[in-house]
Amino acid sequence: MNRTRPKIQVPRETIDEIRSRSDIVEVISECGIPLRPAGRDYKGLCPFHDEKTPSFTVSVQKQIFYCFGCQTGGNVISFVQKHEGKSFMETLEWLAERLNISLPNQDVRGSLNRKRFTALEELNRFAVEYYHRQLLTENIGTPALKYLQQRGVQPKTLRLFQLGYANAARRNLVKVATDEGFTIQQLVDAGLIKDEARGPQDRFWNRILFPIQNERGVPAGFGGRALSEEHQPKYLNSPATILYNKSNILYNLDKARQSIYKKQTVLLVEGYMDALMLYQYGIENVVASSGTSLSENHASLLKRFTPEVIIVYDGDASGFQAAQRGLHRLLAEGLRVRVALLPQGEDPDSFARQHGAAAFTQLTDKAINLIEFQIQAAIQQQNIHRTDVKAQVIKEINATLLNIKNRVERSEYVKYAAKELHVDVSVLWHELRDLGLKEAPAPYRTRRNKTAPKKSSPRAQIETQLIEALIQNPELIPYIKSQFHYKDLTEAHLVKIAQLLWDACTENEGVDIQNLISECPDEKLRALISNALLRKMPSPNLQARVEGCLKKLRHFLLQDLEQRVRSHALAEGADEMETLEELVKLSNQRRALAAYPFHETE
Ligand code: CTP
Ligand code: MN
Repeated sequence: MNRTRPKIQVPRETIDEIRSRSDIVEVISECGIPLRPAGRDYKGLCPFHDEKTPSFTVSVQKQIFYCFGCQTGGNVISFVQKHEGKSFMETLEWLAERLNISLPNQDVRGSLNRKRFTALEELNRFAVEYYHRQLLTENIGTPALKYLQQRGVQPKTLRLFQLGYANAARRNLVKVATDEGFTIQQLVDAGLIKDEARGPQDRFWNRILFPIQNERGVPAGFGGRALSEEHQPKYLNSPATILYNKSNILYNLDKARQSIYKKQTVLLVEGYMDALMLYQYGIENVVASSGTSLSENHASLLKRFTPEVIIVYDGDASGFQAAQRGLHRLLAEGLRVRVALLPQGEDPDSFARQHGAAAFTQLTDKAINLIEFQIQAAIQQQNIHRTDVKAQVIKEINATLLNIKNRVERSEYVKYAAKELHVDVSVLWHELRDLGLKEAPAPYRTRRNKTAPKKSSPRAQIETQLIEALIQNPELIPYIKSQFHYKDLTEAHLVKIAQLLWDACTENEGVDIQNLISECPDEKLRALISNALLRKMPSPNLQARVEGCLKKLRHFLLQDLEQRVRSHALAEGADEMETLEELVKLSNQRRALAAYPFHETE
């Protein structure tokens, strides 16, 4: 927690002393885990995962714990840290106090601060009990009890959550707390009263009070709900104090943490009532962000207890937006995040009351992932079927996909996104590639719009083979040149290269390709030629390959001619006899070409 505590440096020897003098079996038992002797060790039900037979083992000899079920293990310090949700420093302090070891460097200011904390904690505890008693006192608490009853809060729940009531009087707490020996200053410091010109006044009056504890159960502040619409604001919370900072506290985390550990997931809701009612319905792994936007501290606090968060915010526009922001906060912290969407106008409390806990669980089981959520967001905000909107959505989604570190996961998300957006996966992969992703699956590794192989036609493939062979073996150029005009090629860039080659080849001499590269004005062509050179491989049957290419290209050329003659005849109504004769001649040539290679030329 972000309290302004003095920074304490604890020397190595003290840490060692604390560890070696703490009996791990004792400490774990004190933390509420029943252990039974089993041979030289102790065994119990693991507090870190759900199990029916004990696989949680504590070794007295080695002073370590280990769970064979969930592979969690460590020493006494790591146990307290993990189980109690304490920081390293807090754990040391806690263990040291147990052993009556005083931590060094706890200067006077430090211990004074500690006293101040302790006093305010005590005051808060006192206030919680006082307000709770007020709620349960006949005549005084009746309107509040009625209200809670109407909302379905059971007696056992309001006791467990120690709900309270501040009645309409303005100086109740001032009086009872000072009678108890607390000072006005302490009451002000705890945010319980306001010291006004007309004298000290209780902060909370005519409100139902939700005591707010930090993750260790220390009472830190209150949320006070008005009993009627007219009384505004609906919720009045404690101001920031040294114990209460709303961006550090998640409501109900103290009660929920065991369940969060076991389920390895937490439900994040907006309101006090949402958390409390779900808890009552047996859904215990729930915490509330209490209306404030989820902070970095909230995210790292949750990270201490679970790898996954399911956001269940209210089914309205502001809930949706808050979910969107929360999602990114939590992802940035390295948590897995999903969002459960409630029907319009519902919150977790109203939904569970109306449809029951099972229906609510079904809803959270169906919680959607980031990509699904983004698509939902896009769909909600605009018309996804418009091409420009779709392009924008793809851009946004790709920015997110780019951030997903796990390849398998990313690949799954890409598939999903492509399906939902009705685009081909290759579109997304190429876009990702363009955005700088290095590890796309093999077929999508190259950038789009570059010269690299698109799916090219058989003819283009033959032409490429031929030109590459010529670049790699320029001594063949004079021969090919004598057989073939560069304009007979169809691929624009190959035509250009062939022209360069043909032009450079004078007097039956080979071409110096290196020279050609240095003189070529077109950067793209230079790159192509260099690339072909680089991939040069010894080719024993070069001659056969090149002649094979030639033969196929002639075949294509004759096909072209036939085609042209045919369409000319159709268009112009030309002399039918002449056309027919021409066609026969051409197709004979083509057949001859197949039978006797390299004899025919036009
Ligand atoms: N909140 C607040 N101040 C307000 C309104 C809301 O601090 N003026 C916080 C409270 O923590 C509240 C949460 O935001 O629990 C969610 O607000 P809202 O959805 O309006 O209230 P609910 O929790 O649904 O309370 P209820 O069901 O009693 O209306
Ligand atoms: Mn509500």
